[in-house]
Amino acid sequence: MTKNTKIFDVGVGAENREEAILIAADAIKNGELVVFPTETVYGLGADAFNEKAVGRIFEAKGRPGDNPLIVHVADIDSAKDLTKDWPEAADKLVKSFWPGPLTLVLPNRHPNLKNVTAGLSTVAVRFPSHDCAVELIKKSGRLIAAPSANLSGRPSTTRKKHVIEDMTGKADVILLDDDDRLGLESTVVDLTTEKPVILRPGWVTKEMIKERTGIDVGIDKASEPEKAKSPGMKYKHYAPEAELIIFEGPDEKVKSAIRERKIAEEKAGKKVLILLLSELPLEDVAMNLFDELRKADYYNFDVILATGVNADKGLGFSVMNRLLKAAGGNVIKV
Ligand code: TXA
Ligand code: MG
Repeated sequence: MTKNTKIFDVGVGAENREEAILIAADAIKNGELVVFPTETVYGLGADAFNEKAVGRIFEAKGRPGDNPLIVHVADIDSAKDLTKDWPEAADKLVKSFWPGPLTLVLPNRHPNLKNVTAGLSTVAVRFPSHDCAVELIKKSGRLIAAPSANLSGRPSTTRKKHVIEDMTGKADVILLDDDDRLGLESTVVDLTTEKPVILRPGWVTKEMIKERTGIDVGIDKASEPEKAKSPGMKYKHYAPEAELIIFEGPDEKVKSAIRERKIAEEKAGKKVLILLLSELPLEDVAMNLFDELRKADYYNFDVILATGVNADKGLGFSVMNRLLKAAGGNVIKV
């Protein structure tokens, strides 16, 4: 269903920022869909306790109904209220990383959150640090269920133009911020298992968690989709329309393999984009990755030839997680 979408600017210096957030908060109260900026990526939000509204999120994105949503809160007590159990590890983690790009999976306490949790016994909860997201939650007086604001399967939206492209006609209200997202979705940590496990890596890394809380988190075997606990892992994700191929191996070999492949593809009439990601600062790659993938489609590239990044630890591990998914495992080792 196509909607008449109201679009407002809430970036630095935007004149009607407060008014726009109030309009968006009213929309949430009325069971409508609102795209709002967070520090990671844009979210497509609705009142978490309004089953119909949450149903519309799945419809608007074309998201499979068995992939649960994150509930966004604006204070820690609201997160505690959602859960049956709040382990000591949760306290430590939120002290160090909330508000911020960390999502906790905990036992769900509310039977009427079924739509949000896709029927699981757990609920994912996050306190974002972006002031517009926090104001929206507070002014609506609701908790906001929100997946990333992209059409299912496409890269998450990190720029105004991505949101306009994917969400116009789908959301009732869109709040556009300046183009300065962190660029990767939040780190998802499951606290319902004996040992906490990272289900989705992000800016908050295993190493940072160890350093700041002393907690040694495990890492879910995301590379084995059938075993992956985060249901989002099993779907094709972040994929550009262009074919994305990742080259791994010693630097010089990778570069010459990319050069050769480029020549071959161009001979076959293909338009080729090269992304030498390993030569850029990791933070920049994280912030720009989804934009680069979407740009490849705007400019009608047929093939993207990319280097991997060092995925041994930290942010590199998180970046590589997204890149491998975007490539659908299309990796050439040289
Ligand atoms: O940074 C973010 O997390 C952004 C912004 C908008 O907050 N949101 C986001 O939502 O990335 P989404 O729906 O695109 O990704 C949520 C991930 C999915 O992989 C989903 O399967 C997982 O979290 N998830 C949600 N609830 C879960 C649960 N109860 N148990 C395990 N995984 C869960
Ligand atoms: Mg998503």
